Amino acid sequence: EKDGHDWFMRKEIFEQPRAVADSLLGRHARNGLLQLDEMRLSDQELRDIDKIIIIACGTSFYAGMVAKYAIEHWTRVPVEVELASEFRYRDPILDYSTLVVAISQSGETADTLQAIRHARLQRSKVLAICNTNGSTIPRESDAVIYTHAGPEIGVASTKGFLTQLVACYLLALYLAQVKGTRYGDEISEIMHQLEAVPDQIASVLSRSDEVYELARSHVGTRSVLFLGRHAGYPVALEGALKLKELAYIHAEGFAAGELKHGPIALVEEGLPVLCVVPPRGRDQLHEKMISGIQEVRARGARTICLAEEGDTSIEPYADHLIRLPKVPVLLQPLVAVVPLQLFACELATAMGHDVDQPRNLAKSVTVE
Ligand code: M6R
Repeated sequence: EKDGHDWFMRKEIFEQPRAVADSLLGRHARNGLLQLDEMRLSDQELRDIDKIIIIACGTSFYAGMVAKYAIEHWTRVPVEVELASEFRYRDPILDYSTLVVAISQSGETADTLQAIRHARLQRSKVLAICNTNGSTIPRESDAVIYTHAGPEIGVASTKGFLTQLVACYLLALYLAQVKGTRYGDEISEIMHQLEAVPDQIASVLSRSDEVYELARSHVGTRSVLFLGRHAGYPVALEGALKLKELAYIHAEGFAAGELKHGPIALVEEGLPVLCVVPPRGRDQLHEKMISGIQEVRARGARTICLAEEGDTSIEPYADHLIRLPKVPVLLQPLVAVVPLQLFACELATAMGHDVDQPRNLAKSVTVE
């Protein structure tokens, strides 16, 4: 049942190329247009939307953070992302022109369910992104995009997360198509980039031994920091969450630009800092990230950098380098999170923990 793997989690990490491919299947019609069959909202209803609020918990919340970057960039519709447990208790401003997007792998998370009930009482439309057919959250939503990860057994979400990202990109592109903020050619180009991702994830997985060795050398480490910028920031948060829940190691993710506003005081000799380096591009993201890496390194941190192939400028600042395939910055989370999953899984295994059933956690959290 675990396909020869020691844990369901490891099996699920290795299923990700297939899960991502399945989540893309049948979405890109021959005429170049995107189609989302289960999207029960009409094009007119989508055109009327002037604000999106994404609600979710844990890893699904980080998928929502990535979605914000993509949706705002491609559609120019403002997006808020909020933890489901906070959303309902702050008297949020919503009405019929607000689209609430609830992201939940299980479809049973109580915090998320209560939040969508609240949104519907305010007459907002609710769209669920969910991996579990017939679960409560999609049943209580106006529309749904199902992810096609297949059952996720490990408590730590892996393929669930990647397929949520795919669903978010599809939603963003579909909205862009309907609202006319992006045109056919551009949408097709992004779809082709997405369709290349399963092979790229497979190439990251083919180098897992290197990450495992690195992970095993961290047994005994008390604290790890994760840095990212832009779409790499939620990846840093997700990498830190994986390490907390599986290895019970103190881990924190930061937006690299925030370092100087406080967290850099944590850096001391030998502290491992995992850095998600954005691809080199026309923006300043890459340069800014490098300067953040230099800052922590100058204070004694041991930097482990995830950077795209061919990026030689990072070499002088990386104590350890993990190569990523070339992908545009908005899609980079799909490949960048994979080594972080492998790292947490292997480190927890080396420490003798139960990876599939970490202490104090349940797969679906059905209490508020
Ligand atoms: O089923 P959901 O996506 O609603 O679950 C949300 C969180 O409870 C979940 O992502 C949790 O954070 C995972 N254990 C993370 O690995």
